[in-house]
This record gives sequence, structure tokens and C-alpha cells, in this order.
Amino acid sequence: MDKKNVMDRRDFVKATGTAAAGILLASSVAATATPLARKRFAMVGTGHRGTGMWGKDIFERYSNEIEFVGLCDKNGKRAEAGKKLIGASCPTFTNFDEMVAKTRPELLMVTTMDSTHHQFITSALSKGIDVITEKPMVTEASQAQAVLDAEKKYNRKITVAFNYRYAPKHQKIKELLMSGEIGKVTSVDFSWYLDTSHGADYFRRWHRLKSGGGSLWVHKATHHFDLINWWLAADPVEVSAYGDLNVYGKNGPFRHTNCRTCPHAAKCPFYWDVTKDARLTKLYSECEDVDGYMRDGCVFKEDIDIYDTMSAAVKYSNGVSMSYSLNASMPIEGYRVAFNGTKGRLEVRDYERQPWPEELQSEMYLIKNFTKKRERIEMPNLAGGHSGGDDRLRDLIFKNVSVPEHLKLPDSRAGAMSCLTGIAARTSIEQKRPVKIAELIKL
Ligand SMILES: NC(=O)c1ccc[n+]([C@@H]2O[C@H](COP(=O)([O-])OP(=O)(O)OC[C@H]3O[C@@H](n4cnc5c(N)ncnc54)[C@H](O)[C@@H]3O)[C@@H](O)[C@H]2O)c1
Repeated sequence: MDKKNVMDRRDFVKATGTAAAGILLASSVAATATPLARKRFAMVGTGHRGTGMWGKDIFERYSNEIEFVGLCDKNGKRAEAGKKLIGASCPTFTNFDEMVAKTRPELLMVTTMDSTHHQFITSALSKGIDVITEKPMVTEASQAQAVLDAEKKYNRKITVAFNYRYAPKHQKIKELLMSGEIGKVTSVDFSWYLDTSHGADYFRRWHRLKSGGGSLWVHKATHHFDLINWWLAADPVEVSAYGDLNVYGKNGPFRHTNCRTCPHAAKCPFYWDVTKDARLTKLYSECEDVDGYMRDGCVFKEDIDIYDTMSAAVKYSNGVSMSYSLNASMPIEGYRVAFNGTKGRLEVRDYERQPWPEELQSEMYLIKNFTKKRERIEMPNLAGGHSGGDDRLRDLIFKNVSVPEHLKLPDSRAGAMSCLTGIAARTSIEQKRPVKIAELIKL
């Protein structure tokens, strides 16, 4: 490593001239917080994400800010299992309207299957309830329109839980781009890799169907498209895409309903024993008699209609073009992104998981035209979910933290724009043509 060319945090902040933006780089954001009144908080969708990221942790950490008043899941057994995992004492429901009528929440957390988010968001807004929704906000353009229209009509607020923005390393990329070090960004090369463990997991459950998660173009890539929209401070304008299913689904040499009872278990490289995870067993395997939802579904099911191999060209409102790819059956997990500008290039490689040891979790290099050198820029990584993004997002949501404009919570427009890039990509593949975002929505 070339120590001479490594910028430390002080140098970096000085170079970017955005000292105020460094607030969130400090490990705690609570210092700037002023207390809010305790809010009545309800949740719909008590699965892994609901009971984890938005359950036990927030029940314990934000007891001065929120009070759990109701938990709802269409699987009543899972709602009860979720309640135990969270540690709350509020009632559980299988009917959303009944929960809202009986518990009168002021804030709703939506953590159901992606394609159902819009129903709960629009219903809550119409009843005067603010909403935090997990990503993707929606899976179809018509749902995005309904959500944006309802927010305007009922004058309530939606926050979309884009935790990736709040990973300190991603904030650092944003601040470096804002500093103008590489001039005006002209194009972006962005490739995301999901490995045969994490990537395969999307093919086990509802995510495997376009009707459940809108395909990985929406379910997963909404994170990436939101990062890009935020990094570039621009909207997507037009998308051309390709997609194929090369490994999972019909490509498998054999198949069964799920791993636990599979006769091919010994020879299947994707065999996964859910019973080794006590939490998942409680939430899913012990509740599957109610709705047949198998957490360890077969990755070779023939009904899988999403892609595992995706690429797109996207044009943005500020003239930037992006070449993007997402592959879901890789031996590595992580990403590469490079920003090409009029004065240089910013290259990032994120090493989330690979079969060899890596000294660094992420690497970033600033290469300026005509200088004949590259500078390694240190990328901060915090412990915790999504490289520290989960904790920082929750602090911003539940504590009254003051932050610079570019770190404000993602709103419904950000939720819509990131989903629409993926929806346009899906449409482009289905209709074999470039798709304009303006065809999909009226803002
Ligand atoms: N931001 C992130 O990094 C991140 C990570 C994981 C999941 N998520 C998101 O969180 C959400 C939940 O994901 P998960 O992995 O916990 O999924 P899950 O399937 O484990 O949980 C979803 C729950 O919603 C319930 N549900 C589905 N439809 C319902 C309906 N109509 N009414 C009531 N309950 C319903 C299901 O029974 C299930 O318990 C998804 O939107 C997912 O995209 C985000």
C-alpha cells in the first residue's frame, strides 16, 4: 500500500470542503438529537427483516421514541413468533384494518412481501398515518403512481429505508463526487455480484417470482439504483436492458419442493439446512403449516420467472450514462463501481465475501488526469448490518437528528425513482426496446 498517497479523514474532509457532511461519519449521531414525543408504532409483516432490523433492536434502543402498539402478519403464528422475538407485549393481528382500527398507530412500518407494500402504504396514508417502508417501495409503475398520489392527497410522509446510503463508505463516495475532484461525472461503470449463498437465497422464496419482488431488477437493484440516483443527484431518464436465467430454475439437473425433504440433498450444491438457524426455524419452518411458506424452497423450481444474469444501459437527467450489471450466482459477493469524470476517475471495489482472505473490505482510488498517480482513499467501515448503514438509518429515523441536505432521509420520490429504473429494465427486456421513465409515471 502506498502510504504517501493515502488520504486520512482530516485531509479528505478538507479536500472535499464538506466538513459539515462529516457529522454522520462519527460513530454516533445521537449527540445532535433532540427528543421527540413517543410515537405509537405498528408493523405489518413480521418476518426476518421486520422482527430483526425493525423489531428487537428498535424495541430495545428507541423505547423513549416509540411504543409498539400492534403487529400484523397474514400468518398469525408468525406474528406470535415475531412478537416473542421482538420482546413486545402489544397485540397481534392477521387483519391490517383491524389492527389500525384497534391500535391507532401514528407510524407504520411496512415489512411485507414487496408486491404488497403499496396496499399498506396507501391505506395507512389515507388514515392519517406516516409510513416507513422497506425497499423496494413498490414493484409496479401503477403502484408507484398510487403511492405518490396518496401521499400528496393525504399530506402524510413516507420514508423509504435505503440503508445502503448510510454506510459510511457510501457517504464518502457521495462527498468525494460533490467535491468536484473528478470534475463533471460523464459515465459510470457499476457491477454488483451476489454469490451462490446470498444470491441463491432469492431463488428459494417469493423473490423468485416477478409477482412477488418485481424480479431482482427491483427487489435487489432498487438499492443500487437509489445509490446511483443519490450519488449523481440525478433521475433516470431511459433504460435498455437484457436478462437471462442461466443457473437457477429450469436449468437445474433435478428439483424438489424444499431442502429439508429433498432426495437430492447429498449431491445438490445449493442444499441448505434451515433447521441449523434457530431464529429462522421459529419464524418459518414452525409456521409453514399455516400458509405453506417454505424458507428453504428449491432453487431449481420450474416456476422461477426472474433473471440471474442482468445488464442495462441507463441514461440520467444530467447527461450521465451508466453501464450496470447484476449477477446472482457468483463465487464472490461485492461490487465494483467507477465514476468517469472530465478531470479524472474514482474507482471503488467492495469485497464483501470471497474464497480468499482480503486485507481490506473496500478500496477506493482517485486518479486525476495528467497527474500520473493514483491516491488510495480510506473507506470507513462500521460494524453492524450493511456496513453500519442499518444503525445510522435507524438513528436518523427515530431520533431528531439534524444533518446536511444530502443526508436527509430518502422520501417517496427516491423510492419511486429507484424502483422505476428496475421496472423500466424489466419492461425493456419483455418488450425488447428502450423504455423511458416518463412513459411509466406522472410526477
Ligand atoms: N433493506 C434491506 O437491506 C432489506 C433486507 C432484507 C429484506 N428487506 C425487505 O424487507 C421486507 C421483508 O423481507 P423479509 O426477508 O423479512 O421477508 P419475509 O417473507 O421473511 O417476511 C415478510 C412477511 O410479510 C408477511 N406478509 C406477506 N404478505 C402479507 C400480507 N398481504 N399481509 C400481511 N402480511 C404479509 C409474510 O407472511 C412474512 O411474514 C421486504 O420488502 C424486503 O425487500 C430489506
